[in-house]
Amino acid sequence: MTPDLQEAGAALLERHRLSSTASSSGGASFGRLVHGLQPDFAHGVALYLDEISVSFDGFKALNALSLAIDVGELRCIIGPNGAGKTTMMDVITGKTRPDSGWAHFGSNIDLLRLREPQIVRAGICRKFQKPTVYEELSVFENLELALVDDRGVPAALLARLSAAQRERIAEILQLVHLLPEAARTAGLLSHGQKQWLEIGMLLAQAPTLLLLDEPVAGMTDEETERTAELFLSLAGRHSLVVVEHDMKFVDMLTQGHRKVTVLHEGAVLAEGTLAEVQADAQVIDVYLGR
Ligand SMILES: Nc1ncnc2c1ncn2[C@@H]1O[C@H](COP(=O)(O)OP(=O)(O)OP(=O)(O)O)[C@@H](O)[C@H]1O
Ligand SMILES: [Mg+2]
Repeated sequence: MTPDLQEAGAALLERHRLSSTASSSGGASFGRLVHGLQPDFAHGVALYLDEISVSFDGFKALNALSLAIDVGELRCIIGPNGAGKTTMMDVITGKTRPDSGWAHFGSNIDLLRLREPQIVRAGICRKFQKPTVYEELSVFENLELALVDDRGVPAALLARLSAAQRERIAEILQLVHLLPEAARTAGLLSHGQKQWLEIGMLLAQAPTLLLLDEPVAGMTDEETERTAELFLSLAGRHSLVVVEHDMKFVDMLTQGHRKVTVLHEGAVLAEGTLAEVQADAQVIDVYLGR
């Protein structure tokens, strides 16, 4: 690695300090030791929120929100601005502490007792709306910096990547449609490609649960379609929670049968297939009909 890369690597490691002790680089990892506990997914539930409430100066951003996501499930969450969708992700990732309620990862990990880094280590990764990649580095180098090996050692700290690690990066590049761009400077990618690169960087941390907040905002129609294909290919191997306003995208993800959750005023207003919630009078009233 060049000195420049090392410097960028150090910066990225600092940013990804939270996740640098994650302990697997495999395709899917169903939970890692946290506080001596392995997340228990035997009941098929990846995430369980129960009666979560969050207030900001007396305003209830979340109001007794209850929600369960299955292992391997791809769940879309929709709802009007201010419904509490991002706040829900803040609670799951430990950024915001709720006033009351319970949040479990698997059946045994109490998320409300963990700090943000421990939650990442347990296998929950989040993608924010704005892509944050190392613009001056190549696509491959970005992934190299995000990768952690089976013992939790960041690949960036090793003198060279193992063949298995190179293979893993190539596999991720293929998944996120960036194999032909591997050597390209990340700053030259399109907005959509940067988003995919960041998703690839999350995958390099082998998360069990991926939280994606408005992942196709600003994407072209073609990029949106490819992102839907990508998420569909990740479902099963990972659990995904996707917050989105783009109904065409939600339709592509749910394929007529997956469950959609509608949030409104900090609670679940409706749940069902997209067609079902789109036909729901209350949902039309607060969200779709406007
Ligand atoms: N840190 C904060 N301090 C005060 N109020 C906040 C804070 N974070 C969120 N809120 C408020 O909580 C409510 C829920 O916000 P949130 O960002 O979760 O909504 P959202 O469903 O993600 O909306 P959008 O679709 O616009 O992204 C909003 O009224 C928002 O103004
Ligand atoms: Mg939001």
